[in-house]
Amino acid sequence: MANEIKNQLLLLQEKAEKELQELEDIDLLEELHRQILGKKGKLTLFLKQIPQLPPDERVETGRLANKTKKNLESIFKEKTQSLRLSASQALSLQEQIDITVPGVQTPIGHLHPVSLAIFEIEDIFSRLGFVRRRYPEVEHEYYTFEALNMPAHHPARDDFETFYITDEIILTPHTSSGQVREMEKGSSAESAERLPIRMLNIAKCYRPQIDASHTPMFFQFEGLFLDKNVSIAELKGTLDFFAKNYFGKGSKTRLRPHHFQFTEPSFETDVTCTNCSGRGCKFCKQGWLELGGAGMVHPKVIENGGLHPKEVNGFAFGWGVERVAAIRYRIPDIRLLYQNDLRFLEQF
Ligand code: DAH
Repeated sequence: MANEIKNQLLLLQEKAEKELQELEDIDLLEELHRQILGKKGKLTLFLKQIPQLPPDERVETGRLANKTKKNLESIFKEKTQSLRLSASQALSLQEQIDITVPGVQTPIGHLHPVSLAIFEIEDIFSRLGFVRRRYPEVEHEYYTFEALNMPAHHPARDDFETFYITDEIILTPHTSSGQVREMEKGSSAESAERLPIRMLNIAKCYRPQIDASHTPMFFQFEGLFLDKNVSIAELKGTLDFFAKNYFGKGSKTRLRPHHFQFTEPSFETDVTCTNCSGRGCKFCKQGWLELGGAGMVHPKVIENGGLHPKEVNGFAFGWGVERVAAIRYRIPDIRLLYQNDLRFLEQF
């Protein structure tokens, strides 16, 4: 009898240990505890049988039964603790990450309106064969003025108020300073072999001016077309092509006589107002808005570029990027472009 009980106790402990190991559910754990150690549990029933054993077997069997009970109680306790711990960890994780909440959308930026305008301008002119060039922003006076037929002390220089770095080095006040640099390229070749020249120089320019239509730093885009027998009609056609593609199909353009030292004849170019389509409104002057300067390149400038003015001629224009963007989007004050106000920038 005693040996049988001992064997059964050992078996019971072994079986319980095995079952416990595989258990992952706290409710099932409690159920197993009840089945073994509860009031009517298997081990409890064994313990109840002990008083009926013969006295010489009672002590040893009783000791074994109590030891088994203690072992099992501590294994159950340990398992309960570890299951509770992992359950609470899972719970707090769930509290931190509520997978049912819709995700936060990360705002995606876009290019600045001035960059957008630059890329669009570049694209429009590339369809006419113009190639984008970059020339120094910090430039020698020569390329900015002298090479463009504006000798020192010439009053026309006053139109290009300039930031000086040293006596001769300046921040370019206009992109025209790229003209002679462009002509000088490949200057070892014969004049006619360097044709045609179709440059689009888009660059930062600097002038000490600030108001609704000027910022001290701004962008210009300069076109230069040189070939043989180029006519003003080609300048007008280029202007029209740009206006129709940038401002809209219905846009019209006109040339007005003007004066620049580096062109002869010279023009101011106008485009019909995008606000009133040329009828006249408070945004424009009788239906027209001024785009910028243009003209047929002065023979002296062609000569300064190392080309022969008798063989080569062409046109040039220099217009403001912020200016054309302001006309297209009807921006009343171009300083808005440089204030980094998201309410403004997000409209583009
Ligand atoms: N450089 C002139 C300016 O900044 C604009 C200009 C006028 C450019 C006539 C030209 C031109 O190429 O032919 O005011």
